[in-house]
Amino acid sequence: MTSATPAPAKRIAHRSAGALAFLLIASFWLSTVVSELFGSHATVAAVKQTILYAMIVLIPALAVTGATGFSLAGGRGGGRVDAKRRRMPFIAANGILILVPSAVFLAMKAQAGSFDTSFYAVQAVELVAGAVNLTLIGRNIADGLAMTGRLRRRRPA
Ligand code: HEM
Repeated sequence: MTSATPAPAKRIAHRSAGALAFLLIASFWLSTVVSELFGSHATVAAVKQTILYAMIVLIPALAVTGATGFSLAGGRGGGRVDAKRRRMPFIAANGILILVPSAVFLAMKAQAGSFDTSFYAVQAVELVAGAVNLTLIGRNIADGLAMTGRLRRRRPA
């Protein structure tokens, strides 16, 4: 039924918060693209508002992932753990310096019905920053799963 050695809380918190952060950013990205390609301005405004509120969950999820990750790693070194350590400041800075300010700006502009050049310029920056973070977080997930033996890397052909 259940495993004889339950995973420690810190490890569960790490992987859950990391997966949540990844899923949130992926859903922000997809809902933005779909609403802006096919939706009305009212739909775009609703999506932008929802993303802004969901940032209140994303930022703590990233903080918990980072804090538990550094704590789980302790003094451990090695290719994968060092790569994860190195990526984390970029993930955090991208979130705090680009994704949050963009989400605030875009929600305000959409609310005001102002879909001008600055809206689409910031929107483009936000989509690129979101894709960069999805890539970095995805790599951290893949390295984490490889470290715990849940994911086997295919050998190069
Ligand atoms: C957004 C960033 C991160 C994500 C999404 C993430 C995700 C994951 C995942 C999915 C696992 C596998 C957990 C399991 O199989 O139970 C894992 C393991 C691990 N991660 Fe991360 N991680 C992130 C950042 C970090 C950072 C910054 C560190 C610090 C070096 C770190 C250190 C570790 C360690 C040491 C493990 C193995 C834990 C163990 O042996 O129990 N992670 N991570």
